[in-house]
Amino acid sequence: MKQDQVIIFDTTLRDGEQSPGAAMTKEEKIRIARQLEKLGVNVIEAGFAAASPGDFDAIQAVAGLITKSTVCSLARASENDVRRAGEAITPAMQHAEKNGRIHTFIATSKIHMENKLRMTEDQVVERAVQAVKWALEYTPDVEFSAEDAVRSEMDFLVRIFDAVIEAGATTINVPDTVGYSIPEPWGERMATLIKRVKNADKVVWSTHCHNDLGMAVANSLSAVANGARQVECTINGLGERAGNASLEEVVMAIKTRQDYFNLTTRIDATQIVPASKLVSTITGYPVQPNKAIVGANAFAHESGIHQDGVLKHRETYEIMRAEDVGWNANKLTLGKLSGRSAFRSRLKELGIELSSEDALNTAFASFKTLADKKSEIFDEDLHALVSDEFVSETSDHFKLVFLQVASQTGEVPHAVITLSDDGVEKKAEADGGGPVDATFKAIENIANSGVELQLYSVNNVTKGTDAQGEVTVRLSKGGRIVNGQGADTDIVVASANAYLNGLNKLYTKSEKLNPQL
Ligand code: KIV
Ligand code: ZN
Repeated sequence: MKQDQVIIFDTTLRDGEQSPGAAMTKEEKIRIARQLEKLGVNVIEAGFAAASPGDFDAIQAVAGLITKSTVCSLARASENDVRRAGEAITPAMQHAEKNGRIHTFIATSKIHMENKLRMTEDQVVERAVQAVKWALEYTPDVEFSAEDAVRSEMDFLVRIFDAVIEAGATTINVPDTVGYSIPEPWGERMATLIKRVKNADKVVWSTHCHNDLGMAVANSLSAVANGARQVECTINGLGERAGNASLEEVVMAIKTRQDYFNLTTRIDATQIVPASKLVSTITGYPVQPNKAIVGANAFAHESGIHQDGVLKHRETYEIMRAEDVGWNANKLTLGKLSGRSAFRSRLKELGIELSSEDALNTAFASFKTLADKKSEIFDEDLHALVSDEFVSETSDHFKLVFLQVASQTGEVPHAVITLSDDGVEKKAEADGGGPVDATFKAIENIANSGVELQLYSVNNVTKGTDAQGEVTVRLSKGGRIVNGQGADTDIVVASANAYLNGLNKLYTKSEKLNPQL
């Protein structure tokens, strides 16, 4: 199959969700899926249907809404998993586009087959073929992955790929599950497979790389240079452990180095930065400032020599233009005088649909409060602001009613707080090492939750000292990990809200465990 376009398969909603605390609600997945569709990704892996009823619902909802990207569910090579995946993508198969895919996988390395699956090679091949056949009952678009392909024997990979192609798989994915490879051998592995597998030209070859040695993008590009025409990647490189190949880096490398790759993607690069910000806001995973393409400093020239060069001739130090990847796209949206219908229609343009008129009214009231504190309101502010309105799957057990924090040089910071605890107002106070510490201790004097605070981070949503501070806390209790978020122009209030959001998630029964495989 001669193909000059590289298929971008985004797995932010599945492998990305396997980052600790990044589990998303259905509404959050829908918001990200809409942005991914706008970005032009070819395939959205929306989740792992058999992992939890919540994930099944989310995939089904995404499959019903998205028409311009293929919607995919992951499934182990078992009948139950494949059928759950098939049911979850059924709404996509009812669109004219019939844009549903099942992605089934089984491990093929000796270490996995012997110690994890406890299956022989013959059994693994038989199961893989069977899984592809089950999947074909739901859609002709079936992807097969050989988990841990990086440590699998070449002869066995050829054997299993021959068999699943014969059974009807249309995409063959070669994953570096453990992030072990380095670019040259990874590219060679792809080239050898394409040469040795029968009917290799009838399928799309795909690469899926993890970043344990920091080479996921380089490995993916090496596979592309050797014949892969699908790259599995995530926004901001989110994903299991050290993450997956970062979508923005893969896409911009192919675009910027067209002289080398001579390939295209169908990505609208101007949607990259908005997608990065949305994923960061929703998952609570901040983007490091020096991250390629989407980091705050990615286009900032600090040295005088560089600044002088750029002013004289931009290309002296810039290989890409900030505006081409969506920087500066953060339009000034609304202000203090904007009305409810302008607010509603801007949310719609951003792909945000609130669940009810009540939710819209609450969000609009929060917007007016914010507009009183902050003269300019940007799209990022709106995303941060409505995040709270999307927590319908999260319990409302604790609510902040009142907070007063005293912080003065030479004095111990002290917080006084009133919370609504399941409708009952309770007051507490506490000293702390700083105002945030005092606030969290005061909350715990009421909640007595026994959680462990694993992470606390603050980021500014937009520029300036009047910007909203977006706070993420990661809490763990009894093996569950959740991220709580809060945004406010007052970062102590944002911190309190983030902590309460985390506690409320822990109180939500439907909140799924991190769906690790
Ligand atoms: O890393 C991996 O092997 C995976 C597969 C399920 C494709 O995520
Ligand atoms: Zn993976």
